[in-house]
Amino acid sequence: MRPSLDRIGPNFIDIWRWNLDQTEREIDRLFPILSGEERARASRFVYPEHRQRFIAGRAGLRLVLGHYLHLPPHRIGLSCNVFGKPRIAGASELLQFNLSHSADVAMLAISDHYPVGIDVEAIKPLKEDIAEHFFSKRECEALAAFRGDDYLHAFYRCWTRKEAFVKAHGAGLSLPLDSFDVTVDATSRPKLESLDGDQDAPLNWSLFDLATPTGFAGTLAALTLGNAVHLRYWNDDVLTLKASVAHPAHNDPRPHQSGGNRASPA
Ligand SMILES: CC(C)(COP(=O)(O)OP(=O)(O)OC[C@H]1O[C@@H](n2cnc3c(N)ncnc32)[C@H](O)[C@@H]1OP(=O)(O)O)[C@@H](O)C(=O)NCCC(=O)NCCS
Repeated sequence: MRPSLDRIGPNFIDIWRWNLDQTEREIDRLFPILSGEERARASRFVYPEHRQRFIAGRAGLRLVLGHYLHLPPHRIGLSCNVFGKPRIAGASELLQFNLSHSADVAMLAISDHYPVGIDVEAIKPLKEDIAEHFFSKRECEALAAFRGDDYLHAFYRCWTRKEAFVKAHGAGLSLPLDSFDVTVDATSRPKLESLDGDQDAPLNWSLFDLATPTGFAGTLAALTLGNAVHLRYWNDDVLTLKASVAHPAHNDPRPHQSGGNRASPA
């Protein structure tokens, strides 16, 4: 049966956020929502905290997807593209999504028009400066203008912009991190500045700074092909979500014209 879909449309990308630290009772309630494969993965975590956060992350993802697709969350089939990017099995053209989590925060981007990638990171002091291992020459030069706390924030802006682009692009770690440049400053709109072999990429891709909890950085990347797109934030309690009850918390008022081995910055 083809699921019906609550339309989002070409002018919006929906952003959902929830907290991954839940009571054991709540985790027990969420666990049956997961697929057999997800339950097996959950059982392989060494630390209970990681197991619980994984369950709360995947359950939240399924609850939100079920909300749009009008399907029970446990019945949503998830598969991956050849580079490991999760998608809805058999209906990937209906809804594009991407999930990110860091510490106790999960953020999820949903679009029915554009491939999306999202990255959220808790901002922690860097044990060593790893910028040159991950960032392009142009990005490292731009970062060199910052000092102290400003440097730390610029570093995380760059990290999440790159990671979100890699996740949206879909080629995973096969996309060399020095094959594209993003902006690192906070004063102008984030942008993809270049992508090797694709001179139209800066026009076709959009980056958005996300509204995150204090102490986190976050970016959304989307292949918006030059369309004006707003972010629409939802603050419903994701983990108690029922079909068709959500209301947007706020829209990002700024229209946006065209614009892994698991590495962790700290
Ligand atoms: C796994 C990866 C997708 C992101 O890892 P991460 O930042 O540690 O984790 P995030 O929380 O942002 O994203 C994890 C989620 O992304 C999704 N995901 C997994 N593989 C993905 C892929 N290839 N493409 C897009 N999304 C993916 C999954 O939903 C995953 O959730 P899960 O843990 O419930 O399975 C991958 O891009 C990676 O390892 N990147 C590191 C590359 C790197 O070195 N970046 C340096 C920064 S510039």
